[in-house]
Amino acid sequence: MLKWDELWLDAHLATMTGAPSEATDEPYGAISDGVIATVGDRIAWVGHRADLPAQPEHLARNVTSLNSAWVTPGLIDCHTHLVFGGHRAGEFEQRLKGESYETIARRGGGILSTVETTRAATETELTAAATSRLASLYAEGVTTVEIKSGYGLDLDTELRMLRAIRRVADIFPGTVKATFLGAHTVPREYEGRPDDYVDVVCHQMLPQVVKAGMADAVDVFCERIAFTPAQTARIFEAARAAHLRVKLHADQLSDSGGAALAARFGALSADHLEHANQPGIQAMAQAGTTAVLLPGAAYFTHSTTPPPIAQCRSLGVPIALATDCNPGSSPATSLLCILNLACTLFRLTPEEALSGVTRHAAGALGLSDRGTLEVGQRADFAFWAINEPSELSYWMGANPCLGVVCGGRNTLTRQPPTLTGSS
Ligand code: NIG
Ligand code: FE
Repeated sequence: MLKWDELWLDAHLATMTGAPSEATDEPYGAISDGVIATVGDRIAWVGHRADLPAQPEHLARNVTSLNSAWVTPGLIDCHTHLVFGGHRAGEFEQRLKGESYETIARRGGGILSTVETTRAATETELTAAATSRLASLYAEGVTTVEIKSGYGLDLDTELRMLRAIRRVADIFPGTVKATFLGAHTVPREYEGRPDDYVDVVCHQMLPQVVKAGMADAVDVFCERIAFTPAQTARIFEAARAAHLRVKLHADQLSDSGGAALAARFGALSADHLEHANQPGIQAMAQAGTTAVLLPGAAYFTHSTTPPPIAQCRSLGVPIALATDCNPGSSPATSLLCILNLACTLFRLTPEEALSGVTRHAAGALGLSDRGTLEVGQRADFAFWAINEPSELSYWMGANPCLGVVCGGRNTLTRQPPTLTGSS
C-alpha cells in the first residue's frame, strides 16, 4: 500500500527544530542519511532512513535520490518592498560623495523620489519588475515572501501596488503575504500636515484595502523623517479595529521608542532596531514580537550601530533576517547574501542566520505551518549542493540551490552548470 506521494532519500536534513543555543540539540536539527516524504501539500514523514517502516518503493509513488544533498525548509523573506518603479542609483552616488540617507530624504529625495516613479508606472510595469526580483529570490530557495506597499501614498497608487502584489502572487508557486505600508512617509501633498495624512491612511485607505481583502498586515515607518510614535499608534489602533496584525519599521536611524510601541500593539515583528533601547527589547520579549534584522540596509547605508543582538539572545527574542529589498536602503535580491552579511556584520552564527530565514521568519509573518521540516508542516523545502549547512552563510555570490519544492510540488530544478574538461 503506497501511503505517500513523494519520497526523497540519500539526503541530509536541516530540520531547524530546536533552539540554536541549546547545546544538547543537534545543530540545525540535522538528520544525516535522512528521508522526507509528502502527501499533497504537507510533510508526511521526516527521519532517518533506518527508521522507515518499509522499503521506500513500497511507501511512495515516486522515490528520488538526492545524492547526499542537504534539504532545508523553504527560505522565507519576511520583509521586502519588491514592488516599486525606477531605481535610486543616483542617490547611491550622492551618498558615496558624503551625503547621508537621512539628508537626502529631508531634501525630498529618498522614499519620495520612488513615490514619483511608482505613481508614473502602470500595474503591468510594476508587476513585471517585481516578478524579476522575486525570480532571483526563488532561484535561491525562497518559497514564502512578504511584500509591502508604500510607494504610492495615495489611494490609487497604493491599491495599484497591492494589485501588482496580488498578480505576482498568482504566478509565484510559493506564498506571498501582502503588507499595507500607506504610512511609509508623508507625501508631498501633505507636507507640514502629517496628521491630516494619517487621517487619510486610517479613514480612507485602510478601509478600502481591508474591504478589498488586499493586505495581511499593516506596517508603519516610525522615525523622525517619517511618523511619530503617536501617529504610528493611531494607525495601529485603526489596524487593530480592522483585525489586522501590525509590524513596524522601528528605531532604524534613531531611538523613537519603536520597539516598545510595537510590543504594546502585539506586533508580529519590529524591524531594523539598530537604535532600540533596552526596555523596548524587554517589552518585545514579553509580547512575543520577533526582531527582524536587515543587514542589507545596515551595510548599504553605512550604519555603524549594530542592533542589540546580545540582548535579544539573552531575553529569547526570536531573530529573523530579511532582504528589505528596496531601491533606497537595500537593493538586495539575494537572501543568501543577507545570511553572509548577518554573520559578518552582526556576528550571528550561521545557524542563527538560517533560523532567521526559516522558523523565525515564519514567526515574523504569523505563520506556524512552515519554517521547519516536521510532519504536518507545509511541504516547502529547498535542496542544496553543500557539504554542511554553514555554507549557506559562507559563500558570497554562489547559489548552491539544486531545487525547490512548494506545497509538495517540485517547482524548480536547477542543473548545476558544469565545466567540461579534465579535472
Ligand atoms: O526598510 N526605512 C524605511 N523603508 C525602507 C527604505 C525605503 C527606501 O529608502 O525606499 C527600509 O529601509
Ligand atoms: Fe523596509
